[in-house]
Amino acid sequence: MTPRPGLIALPPEPHQAIVDEFGLEGGFVGPGEQDSPWVPFGDSAAIRHLSFDVRSGAVANILWVKGGGRIGTHRHRGAVSAITLEGSWGYYEYDWVATPGSFVYETPGTAHTLYSDDPKGMKAMFWINGAIEFFDDAGQLTDTFDVFWFINHYVSHCRANGLPINQSLFV
Ligand SMILES: [Fe+2]
Repeated sequence: MTPRPGLIALPPEPHQAIVDEFGLEGGFVGPGEQDSPWVPFGDSAAIRHLSFDVRSGAVANILWVKGGGRIGTHRHRGAVSAITLEGSWGYYEYDWVATPGSFVYETPGTAHTLYSDDPKGMKAMFWINGAIEFFDDAGQLTDTFDVFWFINHYVSHCRANGLPINQSLFV
């Protein structure tokens, strides 16, 4: 696509040459499966990956948990924010229930277990910084999800199903 000029003339950028040399373009991911497919995550959930930033270790995605599903107990090593898109969900450890439009902010060091009792399940967009540690019912560490875990989750699904890897997801 040919870039279009801006709608208004901006004041000169004092470091335009540096921006041109070292800056990065933002990304766009359309709503369809051709831009980013739903990738199964366990038996009752799927993830639609939106962004991988290997410099900061941050990822963005939509988590879809089907009704009655849960995501195992996990602890965050970085800040996470989420906006609920559909259905409802919560954490067993907290008394709130997130519904469409609800905003959730999770801080490093907190641990909790996600559930969705809603017959419609839930969809929420998450922006995740740092790693997430997952634990089994005995409290033993089972997995660490960092930016490379999320990339592998996406790429291995694409390769197994003959789907193209969307470079727009990598910023
Ligand atoms: Fe969490």
